[in-house]
Amino acid sequence: MVDFSLSPEAESLRDMARKFARTEMAPHAAECDRTPRFPEEIYRKAHELGLMNLNVPTELGGSGLSLFEQCLLVEELAYACGGMTTSIIANCLALEPLLLGGTEEQKQRFLAPFCASYHLASFCLTEPSGGSDAGALRTRARADGQGYVLDGEKCFITNAPHASLYTVFASLDPALRHKGICAFVVPRDAEGVTTGKDEEKMGHRASSTSTVRFDSVRVPASDRLGAEGDGFGLAMRTLDQTRTPIGALATGIAQAALDHAAAYALKRESFGKPIAQHQAIQIKLANMAQQVHASRLLTWHAAWTIDHGARGTLESSIAKCFASDAALHVADEAVQTFGGYGYMKEYPVEKLLRDAKLTQIYEGANEIQRTVIARELLRGYS
Ligand code: CAA
Repeated sequence: MVDFSLSPEAESLRDMARKFARTEMAPHAAECDRTPRFPEEIYRKAHELGLMNLNVPTELGGSGLSLFEQCLLVEELAYACGGMTTSIIANCLALEPLLLGGTEEQKQRFLAPFCASYHLASFCLTEPSGGSDAGALRTRARADGQGYVLDGEKCFITNAPHASLYTVFASLDPALRHKGICAFVVPRDAEGVTTGKDEEKMGHRASSTSTVRFDSVRVPASDRLGAEGDGFGLAMRTLDQTRTPIGALATGIAQAALDHAAAYALKRESFGKPIAQHQAIQIKLANMAQQVHASRLLTWHAAWTIDHGARGTLESSIAKCFASDAALHVADEAVQTFGGYGYMKEYPVEKLLRDAKLTQIYEGANEIQRTVIARELLRGYS
């Protein structure tokens, strides 16, 4: 039986996130974007309210939410600011490999103290030489008898300068491609770990992004997640879980763009009447509304699929890819509806366009999502 209604618990979670987004995040969104500024005080409040480690079970100090509940919250947060939302949910991405591949001892050792108070973690997969071909990563892990020594550089790492824990993917032998990749947990204060400068980005400017270097960083074998060679599968299974919330994040941006455009169209007049009464604008708004609605439903469906125990590789890629393409289009149409004002930084829609763009790129560029979708689809025909 399919049911699109929200339970009272889900509604109250959504309302709590909406209140936080509109009272704590939205008033600072433009300033954090312009400066740019990493508003740590807002992230600390998000942690206090349980809006940060959404996927970590409650017994380990997290919020223990279903993926569907996570998506409800993420859409609300992104409505206020895509960049802040990226930083708030980065812990979910970074900690997922621990949840999927960690032993009970590792979960207790790393996650419980980490979640007890405000901390940030980063997911270190992408490298300067390539992001889409994750199996070709070059960061090396050399076994030295007691553990491993890591050498290499990761880039575009969300929250890296502020994180105290990294989940790092490194190869025992690049010639083995994905079969040689291992996943490790590396504390920020391990000797040889350094972060680069804060990157100057087009959008998501309230979020912090930098490189992370590993120079002869010693990691004990007890901090490896899973067996040697399990790293690539862990990264892929993690992304299956976390691409769906990116669909929700994109939906939040798109909903904000639609709301701004509709409100503006009702009050802006041309040819003697509000532009909302011109068919050209009505068609825009109608198309934008369809895209927002479809994005939300695809995201909910992907979350529901994964919550019901399926891998959800196909569904999460469809949700992420569709919703992010839709967000860019809807934000573009919002700018067009505002006309010249839409291009001005004084109005909110140009930020939405810049923020929407990243959702097509991170957590797997949409070209990769289409590769994944086609592979999963064709499996059903062969
Ligand atoms: N779950 C479990 N296992 C999986 C899997 C999945 N979803 N997808 C693939 N695998 C397994 C395969 O079964 C295969 O295993 P076997 O060797 O046992 O058969 C193995 O992994 C290799 O799979 P492929 O042959 O499909 O691998 P590939 O080299 O062709 O690459 C890819 C596949 C989908 C293109 C992958 O490289 C990919 O997803 N790339 C994009 C990486 C990405 O999303 N990066 C984002 C970084 S995070 C970020 O941007 C966020 C941020 O900071 C905010």
